[in-house]
Amino acid sequence: MPAAMQSLTIRPRRLRATASIRSLVAQTTLAVDQLIQPYFVAERDVDREPIEGFTGIHRWGIDALTDEIATDLVHGVRHFLLFGSSPERDERGSAASAADSRVAQAVRRLRERLGDAPTLFTDVCLCSYTSHGHCGVVKGAQVDNDATLSRLAAVACAHAAAGADFVAPSDMMDGRVGAIRTALDDAGFANVGILAYTAKYASAYYGPFRNALDSSPEGFDRAGYQMDFRNRREALRELDLDLDEGADLVMVKPALAYLDVVADLAAASDVPVCAYSVSGEYEMVKQMARVGLADERALAIENLTAIRRAGAQAILTYFASTIARERWL
Ligand code: PBG
Ligand code: ZN
Repeated sequence: MPAAMQSLTIRPRRLRATASIRSLVAQTTLAVDQLIQPYFVAERDVDREPIEGFTGIHRWGIDALTDEIATDLVHGVRHFLLFGSSPERDERGSAASAADSRVAQAVRRLRERLGDAPTLFTDVCLCSYTSHGHCGVVKGAQVDNDATLSRLAAVACAHAAAGADFVAPSDMMDGRVGAIRTALDDAGFANVGILAYTAKYASAYYGPFRNALDSSPEGFDRAGYQMDFRNRREALRELDLDLDEGADLVMVKPALAYLDVVADLAAASDVPVCAYSVSGEYEMVKQMARVGLADERALAIENLTAIRRAGAQAILTYFASTIARERWL
């Protein structure tokens, strides 16, 4: 026997020999409990309508959404993030903070029908309510940070009044977590939490989502407020600020191309770190499966497990409902 083979006393493959040994030593778990399903609330009272370029995802009427979420609960999905939009769009995104916005109505209905069984997160942003599609109030060729804060706070309070558990500001304005926290507390919503989009990058992965809400920005892109994907340390600076301002949960977005950032935040954060596996990540899997280049289930589970391995406690994914209903785990 060649000498090299005789000296092989250490064989990592022993721990990969059978499925049960592999399970015994697996370091990462993925469970439906850790998944948050995003849903789009339709502007009109439809049952549901498909979204171009977003396979299998719909905008939901409030009744149909309530039934859908009730079914999710039966299958073990318990956490949901609601997005909405309005046909009435103006410079300041006034419709976003209306007490009877579609999102607020949906939250109220879900609470009436399902009590506190679902964890309800609501997206707090203006881009699907503004005439220009930006996430804040526009001045010249920029979003005016400080003028936007009171608008976001008003949206958060409207959602809290409807019964949201957590508001999730996705705008990337400086100081938004603090502004929202103060406004919630002043309005008597001390128990409503904040899921901060702490490190949200200006990304080309948001395409299908923008179709869902018709929220593409006009005139200039979002690089003046969302993070630059060349930057890593800046995410830790955003983390410090969001924790100081009172974030209950922090998030990295997108997820798959940003696992270094997820790992950095997981190591540094005192609060749980979430990751948003965004619409483009989802659609890449759908398209690979469609053309027969990959098994959809295997690809989705590998991606989500990798996001967990990087350190995410919870994951926002458009696959949550399917994973639970089709028993992919
Ligand atoms: C807007 C918002 C976006 C997403 C969530 N909130 C798009 C954007 O910033 O342009 C993307 C989510 C996804 O792609 O799944 N505030
Ligand atoms: Zn926005």
